[in-house]
Amino acid sequence: MDKIKIAVFASGNGSNAENICKYFAASGTAEVSLILCNNPGAYVLHRAENLNVPAVVFDGKQLEDGTVLSLLRDNGIGFVVLAGFLRKIPDAIVYEYENRIVNIHPSLLPKYGGKGMYGDKVHEAVFAAKEKQSGITIHYLNERYDEGSIIFQKTCDIVENDTPATIAAKVHALEYECYPQVIDAVISRLKDNNARNK
Ligand code: GAR
Repeated sequence: MDKIKIAVFASGNGSNAENICKYFAASGTAEVSLILCNNPGAYVLHRAENLNVPAVVFDGKQLEDGTVLSLLRDNGIGFVVLAGFLRKIPDAIVYEYENRIVNIHPSLLPKYGGKGMYGDKVHEAVFAAKEKQSGITIHYLNERYDEGSIIFQKTCDIVENDTPATIAAKVHALEYECYPQVIDAVISRLKDNNARNK
């Protein structure tokens, strides 16, 4: 069966995007064929170049007016992954890719999610609240920030000397360990369902 084409949306550093590209470069299930970025200065664009994965930068208007959706269609994208993408995905993309679009959030949702909660802001809030645990949530995307149905969560402990930076490092380690495999499992399930329905 053909490999599913994945598009990864990222806004900044892109360490998850790179990790996902590397994982799927050695996979029979899928391949990352496009990186999409809303920030022309983002480090993820250097990573894409080094990895030889085509990257496209778009602006807010192109995200909203259907240009980005057309790009997904024209490139035969079958699955969409958000990895540190900080803008809201328009409903038209969410609906077209229902059950084929996932996000990772660096906390145990529903805690510390929602508009404006991303990256280090999440870890600072978790630290300030003296939480004993944090972790990652991988979920399907719906029309509301961080509210789509949860596919997977994994926790890490927060200990006495932890800081927002050390919490971030623990959470990133979980992301690298789990996100590619969860994406792989979701895509494999989709492929099985498609094969059964043929
Ligand atoms: C990741 O920790 C990801 O979970 C988070 O941004 C970071 C991006 O790191 N995403 C969100 O906060 C979304 N609300 P990266 O650019 O190095 O992959």
